[in-house]
Amino acid sequence: MMPFANRYSFNVDGLKDCQATIARYYGVEKENILLTAGSSIVLDFCARFFYKTGGNIVAADPTFFVLPATAKKLGLIVNAVPIDSNRKIDLSAMLSTINNDTQLVYLVNPNNPTGTLLKPDAMKSFCAEASKKSAVLIDEAYLDFLDAPDNESMIPLAAGNPNILVTRTFSKIHGMAGMRMGFVISHPDRIKQLEQALFNESQVAISNLTLAAALASLQDEEHRAYCKQKNATSRDYAFKSLKEMKFDPIPSVTNFILFPIGNDYEGNFADFMLTKNIYLRSATYFGQKCCRVSVGTLDEMQQFIKVMKETWKA
Ligand SMILES: Cc1ncc(COP(=O)(O)O)c(C=O)c1O
Repeated sequence: MMPFANRYSFNVDGLKDCQATIARYYGVEKENILLTAGSSIVLDFCARFFYKTGGNIVAADPTFFVLPATAKKLGLIVNAVPIDSNRKIDLSAMLSTINNDTQLVYLVNPNNPTGTLLKPDAMKSFCAEASKKSAVLIDEAYLDFLDAPDNESMIPLAAGNPNILVTRTFSKIHGMAGMRMGFVISHPDRIKQLEQALFNESQVAISNLTLAAALASLQDEEHRAYCKQKNATSRDYAFKSLKEMKFDPIPSVTNFILFPIGNDYEGNFADFMLTKNIYLRSATYFGQKCCRVSVGTLDEMQQFIKVMKETWKA
């Protein structure tokens, strides 16, 4: 399909029903979904949307930074709930942290940067309980890397409850991070509020090219399965190699791996690795200096392990 760059998407036949097509794919109505230019904008925006003087949000620590960072900037208290000893989000601690001033609970599943998963049944009970007290935003950016039954989405719950919202992105399994495509799903009343506040009822923030690519990618189940398998192969190789080197990587279901590098490491590990042409992140989580490496091609992961071996030998 031609992207028709000279026209707005609502004037292009193939794109007119994009929202409805994506909604149908996820088993909801078009009134349940708001397409957005990536999903970070929804995270940033939800911190603003649910802002209330004296309010707080509840989020795991560590988790994806965007929503808590915006909340903090606005003056909301961020009640950060430490992950448990298995490096998983502690759902009962999250629940008991919600209080009368909680405006929003942010839960990333699978979590970033830990790469850990909470099972669907636990998630469903959590959503049911937490949404009685506060709005709950479930960020499912990495859920596409899982297989059934672990990849069960909270979308059906969100579609019928204004207090539950689910965000998804085309940046991960679809490989479209630079094209900027995501969406949020909730009850139609919530979606209408978000739409009026976020886009003023306009949907032109996403380019025709991006919409066309998203539709094509959504239909290409085979390619996504291929990418998932390639990702798992590279991830398993890196995980096993790090273990052999006596690191203690957290078992990951995503396209990244987090592992402590030891608090004795001096300097900025990410800066050092950049001098070796390897781009990754390093930060201190749960009191330990950690490295978070994205899963690339097998060649790239072999290169990463080679540099790790040279570095830790030296
Ligand atoms: C948990 C999580 N949510 C959302 C995003 C943002 O993705 P995007 O804005 O590209 O859709 C990321 C990106 O790394 C992420 O890790």
